[in-house]
Amino acid sequence: MATAPQTQIPGYSPGLEDVIAGTSAISKVDPQGDELLYYGYKVSQLCEQSNFEEVSYLVLNGKLPTKTEFEAFNKKLVQERNVPEEILSYLCKMPEKAHYMDILRSGVSLMAHFDPQVEDNSKEAELNKSIKLIAKMPTLLAARIRALKGEKPVAPNAKLNHAANFLYMLTGKEPDADFAKALDVSLICYAEHGFNASTFTARVIASTLSDMHSCVTGAIGALKGPLHGGANEHAMYMLLKIGDPSKAEQWIRDALAKKEKIMGFGHRVYKKKDSRAPILKEWGWKMAKKLKQTKWHEMQEIVERVLMSEKKLFPNVDFPAATLYYLLDLPIEADTPLFVVARMSGWCAHIMEQRIGNRIMRPESIYTGPEPKDFVEMAKR
Ligand code: ACO
Repeated sequence: MATAPQTQIPGYSPGLEDVIAGTSAISKVDPQGDELLYYGYKVSQLCEQSNFEEVSYLVLNGKLPTKTEFEAFNKKLVQERNVPEEILSYLCKMPEKAHYMDILRSGVSLMAHFDPQVEDNSKEAELNKSIKLIAKMPTLLAARIRALKGEKPVAPNAKLNHAANFLYMLTGKEPDADFAKALDVSLICYAEHGFNASTFTARVIASTLSDMHSCVTGAIGALKGPLHGGANEHAMYMLLKIGDPSKAEQWIRDALAKKEKIMGFGHRVYKKKDSRAPILKEWGWKMAKKLKQTKWHEMQEIVERVLMSEKKLFPNVDFPAATLYYLLDLPIEADTPLFVVARMSGWCAHIMEQRIGNRIMRPESIYTGPEPKDFVEMAKR
């Protein structure tokens, strides 16, 4: 049996904390919480002045598109929204209890079989595959959400942008413009974030020269965990358990006394704040006031205050995303899958970046097992 990790050994950093595992030009994640940058552009500005499609172009290509470049890119994204019928009908029939993340993971795996460029790791092919993966994720997710309600998929609407079209595919009705923009902003905030666990997973797989679909399938598995992307849905379950702002303070104090982790708080890299959280919080409050449903945000304010005063912990992007998505009337189980919808751009960008000057990732471990001993025949054990 393995022994407990020994943390004092030189060169060993549990959880790879502070270990530099590569270089990347895609995003700048500042430990002090200065603004997150995508290829030098502030995410807050991108949220105000851009849209998820343009941000996807930026992270995939390393520059903002000209009008012509954007139109060509967007045209491909819209054209690629359909998911092969065989995949849609198969995944919509999977057992009800299958997690949406597992459905998306299987979906990407199945899509590989339908992509003629699956084994082509050239830049050109990987840009094409990135566009297809980004375009198809919302369609698959919306179809599965509807299937669980016994409803048939709604075909994508070419007139709507990525975020608005996702909301449209859930109901068959064109969404409110503020709802669509709120979702678009969340997709921009979630699009890319350095060497986080899922992106690192994708890069490890890419480093073996495996194909893009395999890299993304692994990344989805890594994102599912509650310590990573799964935190947004778990944060909402927590708020539902608390139930009312009047109970929030005591609930959190009790949870902290029991040494429970509060989902949506803390971060491995950020020490003071996560600059994405206030952006989503502002949009959440805007939606809450519009819908006259401020209870969840009132509760969030209390939870934030207690966590800051008691543990110096700040909300990460997942905390405000949880309530924002709840107000958009999305099933809670779809929160982490929406992170997939957004992060697909970042993952694909990192996979392509990993190809440049690639070296297989192969760290070492410290052996903690027994010294050599002789094999014992079964009868003598
Ligand atoms: N609630 C309560 N206590 C916390 C929290 C939290 N959310 N986060 C950290 N702490 C405490 C730990 O209990 C620990 O305290 P101790 O030293 O007294 O034991 C200390 O802060 C350090 O925490 P670690 O878990 O060791 O920090 P690490 O860097 O390994 O983990 C992580 C970072 C996983 C994000 C952690 O803060 C956490 O579990 N947060 C909750 C899950 C979450 O929100 N994940 C989303 C992250 S952002 C993203 O992936 C999009």
